[in-house]
Amino acid sequence: MDSLRNKLKSATMASHTKIEANPVLAKLTSPSLTPLEYKTILERYYGFFRPLEEKFLLNANHSTIPSFNQRLRTQRLKTDLEALGVSDAEIDALPICDRLPALDNESELLGVLYVMEGSNLGGMLISKHLKTLPFFSVESGTFFGDDPQAVSARWKSFIEHLESRSSSLDETATLNSASETFQKLDQWMERSVR
Ligand code: HEM
Repeated sequence: MDSLRNKLKSATMASHTKIEANPVLAKLTSPSLTPLEYKTILERYYGFFRPLEEKFLLNANHSTIPSFNQRLRTQRLKTDLEALGVSDAEIDALPICDRLPALDNESELLGVLYVMEGSNLGGMLISKHLKTLPFFSVESGTFFGDDPQAVSARWKSFIEHLESRSSSLDETATLNSASETFQKLDQWMERSVR
């Protein structure tokens, strides 16, 4: 039988292709990315990650995920924005997404986490590109520029955990919640482009 990871990958393949073409996110891999666009994208990610990660913590199952705290990335976004000169008060006032995926049980939590953890894999590619841009600095690139070995190790341990829990999960709920996560992030990124 196919692994849950392979089912998630197949079920979300079209969503991944769609989000890569999102007009805001597509700029990340463009040679003409400007510092302002980079800052705006980080702000938009902050508006999604901050409330989503707060929601993770309300789901009791988060404590069963290996190295859970190291998977949280709101602080990285804050670090990068601060390095770009955005003040704490400005960061606190950033628009926050209020249309988040459901996270009411373990099946949904693992579906959402599959997408958020997987986004680190694309981050490695994005980071390589960002490093070629003249304005880029390591200090403002911690969100995409995580250590590749650490990213790979966290991905591997997440997938092992996912598979170890698969017989206890409502598979349809996990697949739906992964698709919903892609959809909600896609909509949020596209909204109100400056
Ligand atoms: C915007 C530009 C993006 C690029 C260029 C990109 C690129 C990639 C690449 C190259 C991989 C495969 C890595 C590997 O197999 O080693 C990957 C995997 C993945 N990406 Fe993206 N990605 C992007 C955005 C996103 C976003 C925004 C999300 C979700 C929030 C996402 C979710 C995933 C997931 C879940 C996987 C794992 C698929 C699997 O193997 O099960 N990606 N991405």
